[in-house]
Amino acid sequence: MIDFDPNHDAGLAVDVFQRLEQIRASSPPIAYAPKAGGWMFFREDLIQKAFSDGEHFSTSLFNAGAQSGAPDMIPLCLDPPENGPWRMAVVRQLTPGKIKRLEGFVRAKAETLIAPIAARPSCDFLKEVAEPMPISIFMELMGLPAEGYEEFRNLAVQIISPEGLDRNTPATAAANARIIEILADLIAQRREEPRDDLVSSLIQETVAGEPIGPRELLAICYVLFLGGLDTVVNAMSYGMRFLAMDAELQDSVRRDPATIPGIMEQLLRRSTFVNPLRLVKKDIDLEGITLKAGDIVWNMCGAASNAPESDTGGPRHLAFGGGYHMCAGMHLARLELRVLYETWFKHIGPFELDTDEGPIMAGGPTMLIKRLKLRLNAAN
Ligand code: HEM
Repeated sequence: MIDFDPNHDAGLAVDVFQRLEQIRASSPPIAYAPKAGGWMFFREDLIQKAFSDGEHFSTSLFNAGAQSGAPDMIPLCLDPPENGPWRMAVVRQLTPGKIKRLEGFVRAKAETLIAPIAARPSCDFLKEVAEPMPISIFMELMGLPAEGYEEFRNLAVQIISPEGLDRNTPATAAANARIIEILADLIAQRREEPRDDLVSSLIQETVAGEPIGPRELLAICYVLFLGGLDTVVNAMSYGMRFLAMDAELQDSVRRDPATIPGIMEQLLRRSTFVNPLRLVKKDIDLEGITLKAGDIVWNMCGAASNAPESDTGGPRHLAFGGGYHMCAGMHLARLELRVLYETWFKHIGPFELDTDEGPIMAGGPTMLIKRLKLRLNAAN
């Protein structure tokens, strides 16, 4: 049993990764945390088991009940084997080949956001780059018209902000309802007039030989919206935070930009911020402990894949989860991150954290970074 609250622990607000490493190092690999309302898994093999053993571990806790008024989280809320055909329908739309066509748009967006910052002494990286970039890219991916950007950005920011995690506040519930309306309109338009975009392709998809129904289609689009925005905002901001704290790493990227894909994986590992939850659906014995049906498990991915004794020294890490629900959008996420770093290092000289207004972080199943201000062209 450990006395640790992964949602509200004060140390997490300062540095989620340092604090979790402290907790991991002083805890058994499986610990019961009453303040977390369940078990915490700190070791990689145990986490892989939770991700890959569909007989004992379920994602059914990610359903409509958890998000008032929102559609089910398909394919995330479905257990194997039911999830398989739904997941395949989504994954087929997000293959590296399909994502490649977005590269020009992603690069142009990164240029527009980063080039004007280059001459400035400081920037609010989270607000000026990490937030707008994935929102525009999501709109392009889905086929949402660019003229709706301002409204969509305001709604998305409301929903993905730390306050927005409570879907029941009136402002967030209203934003959520409007997003669902926008996605439903888009689906209706593409049914009438298909185009070369993700929603039109999803309409053509079949699951078990049947076209995807309207409710399920909306559910999938909603999961892409929720899954593909705050995660990228966080990955960009945490990655940039590590770079801002490491002048040597910055120099090495400047000397050889071809190393960016490898460094991006390193940064993804160091900044693994999703701790996916699972529901135990059948009693199971692990490490001499019996987990009971109905128990909740927190899979502490960042702590596990950065543990000194971790064997994931290579490019493998748990930033995108694993097993039956491994991130369906990882090729898009990697494209966005690679282009971000390439464009950033093309325009921006040495940079460091703004220590007057340092980063602010928060715990939870998704550990958010809430502020990242940078000083640019710093002498180092
Ligand atoms: C760096 C950015 C991202 C990170 C760190 C990330 C992380 C994750 C993780 C950890 C999971 C597994 C959740 C679980 O097992 O409970 C997941 C699932 C998922 N992600 Fe991502 N994600 C990112 C970007 C994206 C993007 C850009 C999209 C789509 C446009 C996306 C779509 C999804 C979907 C659809 C699932 C559910 C897959 C399934 O249930 O089969 N993600 N993501």
